[in-house]
Amino acid sequence: MTMVVNVCKRSGSLLWLSCLIHLKRCSGSGSTEKGRASMGKNYVLAGMVGVSDYETVAFTLKSAQHRTDYLGAQPLTNLPKVDREIFLLSMANTAKELNHDKFVACFYHYMFREGFEERLKSEKAKKCWAQLAEDYKTMPHGEGEQFYTEDATGLRGFFIRYFFYVMLGTDTEDPEIMKDLVAMMRGDTPIAMCYLWPFAVPNLMGSTIKKVDDRIFNSSSLAKFVEGEEKFANMTKLELTRLTTCIMRLAAITGTLQLAKSVTGGLTMPPFEDMDKTNVAAEWDKLDLADEQALQNFCLEVARLHPPVSSVHHIATEAFSATIQGRVVDFPAGTKILVPTNLAMTDVDTWGVDAFKFNPSRPALQEKNMVFANVGKQGTRVCPGQYLAMDTCVEILRVLGKVRREGK
Ligand code: HEM
Repeated sequence: MTMVVNVCKRSGSLLWLSCLIHLKRCSGSGSTEKGRASMGKNYVLAGMVGVSDYETVAFTLKSAQHRTDYLGAQPLTNLPKVDREIFLLSMANTAKELNHDKFVACFYHYMFREGFEERLKSEKAKKCWAQLAEDYKTMPHGEGEQFYTEDATGLRGFFIRYFFYVMLGTDTEDPEIMKDLVAMMRGDTPIAMCYLWPFAVPNLMGSTIKKVDDRIFNSSSLAKFVEGEEKFANMTKLELTRLTTCIMRLAAITGTLQLAKSVTGGLTMPPFEDMDKTNVAAEWDKLDLADEQALQNFCLEVARLHPPVSSVHHIATEAFSATIQGRVVDFPAGTKILVPTNLAMTDVDTWGVDAFKFNPSRPALQEKNMVFANVGKQGTRVCPGQYLAMDTCVEILRVLGKVRREGK
């Protein structure tokens, strides 16, 4: 395999340290866009070879992959475990006998099958939506204002109450249960202290994680758990519990909350090519709230320019050569390869010269987007929460859009 790679001038441990300290900044869309503008489509970041050409990223997302304990460019630690590896994002899906696909099937079965549709339509779910609308009316909701910063109320409070209820049947009306969930799902610090390397190494949040494990283990979705099912690689109730606790914090609530903030104007787009000047809230106010397709495209276009998960990774299974600033360099098997979906989703060769313009009506948005590690409808390890995430953000646009049009 040969690829063209431009190397960032800073090197070795200094680069690593700098990338770690500035991780959030470095992996955010604005700075990676700037990196590509100065270094070209391919580059080296934090010890990973990054390849951002749309077709190469699409090929990777449609291929099986070897993995390690990374979320995009972010090293993870303290990941859930029982006696064997269970953290989906770290697991290879390169052969049928591997557990990855069966564990995903188990997760999907218990979260999104029995009782899920009923819970979505239930009185409890309606109360979550009513509370969200009420909070929007009563709390200041500009960027960085109360609606977006509270933990147990406002937008985050809604996601904690609603997702734990619809996926797991957890009684989030019980204040004691909410207290345990909020302690782990609140703000931005716990995600680092729970799972991001090096902050999570001492496991200072261990008892907080354990409390959420207990709430999930005792949830109604897992009450009928059947042990020893071969189709789920004999995944145990404890394994699914620990995996789910981590997924709720790392992916489900964090990812969807970011998208919901962005589509409602609570988070400015990255400062690149005037994307940050897009007035998302003003665009939202022009939408036909009865047009499901338009609402979906609105969410996808926001996520294309500002994706909650900006990259995935994989590990090279064989040695390969790469052309770096005109020189061919050999990389060994085991090299970490960064797959920056954010850059692929703004590759002008695929999206055209208006790639950085906010245009929810752009052609083939649904077919070409990679927001959920998909390529349209294809992909080998597509996010199992994509429909819940999208449906929830679309409904947020509808419910809060109505409040805005009533002049609140
Ligand atoms: C807007 C919100 C979300 C976005 C943008 C998103 C995006 C992604 C992406 C890009 C991946 C692939 C990561 C990788 O391979 O390294 C992923 C994986 C995953 N996501 Fe989501 N996600 C979102 C919400 C959710 C929700 C609500 C759930 C809850 C069920 C969820 C559960 C998962 C799981 C379990 C995986 C691992 C899948 C696997 O390894 O096969 N995500 N997500």
